Amino acid sequence: MPKPRVFATHSLFEAARQILQETCEVEYWAKPERPPREEVLPRVKDKEGLICLLTEKINEELLSVAPKLRIAANVAVGFDNIDVAACTKRGVVATNTPGVLDETTADFAWTLLMAVARRLSEGEELARSGKWKNWDLDQLVGTDVWGKTLGIVGFGRIGRAVARRANGFQMKVIYTDAQRAPAEVERALKAEFWEMNALLAESDFISVHVPLLPETRRLFDAPKFKRMKPTAFLINTSRGPVVDEAALVAALEGEQIAGAGLDVYENEPFIHPGLKRANVVLAPHIASASLETRTKMACIAAENVVALFRGQRPPNILNPEVLKAS
Ligand code: DGY
Repeated sequence: MPKPRVFATHSLFEAARQILQETCEVEYWAKPERPPREEVLPRVKDKEGLICLLTEKINEELLSVAPKLRIAANVAVGFDNIDVAACTKRGVVATNTPGVLDETTADFAWTLLMAVARRLSEGEELARSGKWKNWDLDQLVGTDVWGKTLGIVGFGRIGRAVARRANGFQMKVIYTDAQRAPAEVERALKAEFWEMNALLAESDFISVHVPLLPETRRLFDAPKFKRMKPTAFLINTSRGPVVDEAALVAALEGEQIAGAGLDVYENEPFIHPGLKRANVVLAPHIASASLETRTKMACIAAENVVALFRGQRPPNILNPEVLKAS
């Protein structure tokens, strides 16, 4: 029996390639840059599997040229790049990589939080520039993190991992979410459930951990920034379109908030020029980018593909109704 043919839009890591090799015949995109759409579409035409990054739109345009496709495996937990309903309609399984990146992403939300509070980017620039003349009492004074109030918007796995770290900084942790966490989780993380507007007004740091959904698109808009303290910071490691970037720039310019730490943007890789300011720490969507975690993410995507082609249920299936129907 010929092996099912798979296109991977990335060369992946060796560990993931090992998982795939026995079951599938994989064509890897080997160039360092992301493949342009006109390179992807002809490659998926005759493939039964696709392993893709979050930069690839899995939509009707792609699905319609890939009649044999049975699985689109995203190497990411967020799957706003996948039109899951369109996949389901065409009987294509969609999968993601939940769980393995929670701690690494939480670490990075904290990296941004600490960096913007303590003005690390400015300090590093001064240290590297050769312009640092002497220690001074009020040089690059930032704001304390310990003992402050952390507001977490979206209290899923990553939000909770961020909360766990806050306990070490003796912070008050408040959160909001469409669903209140079980009492034992709140107790263990010393986290209180607050309604959104109250959380905005109370928090010194707000860290966003919601998926991008129609109801979370531009969740952070001008009225929300108005409710925040002028001394507060916004940290976003979720998805860029959750924040109205123009409104954020206006809030920063109007000193309605003190600063921001951002890993994600509305139109990546474009970054609104108004965000390139001293009180904003910018990162290029790398919150999950540790070698350990990215390797695990690639392996999970590979395992999802292999499971399907071995007649098993892919562990991270997003549309299980596809399997029920077949
Ligand atoms: C994801 O997995 O959704 C991230 O944005 C990349 O780790």
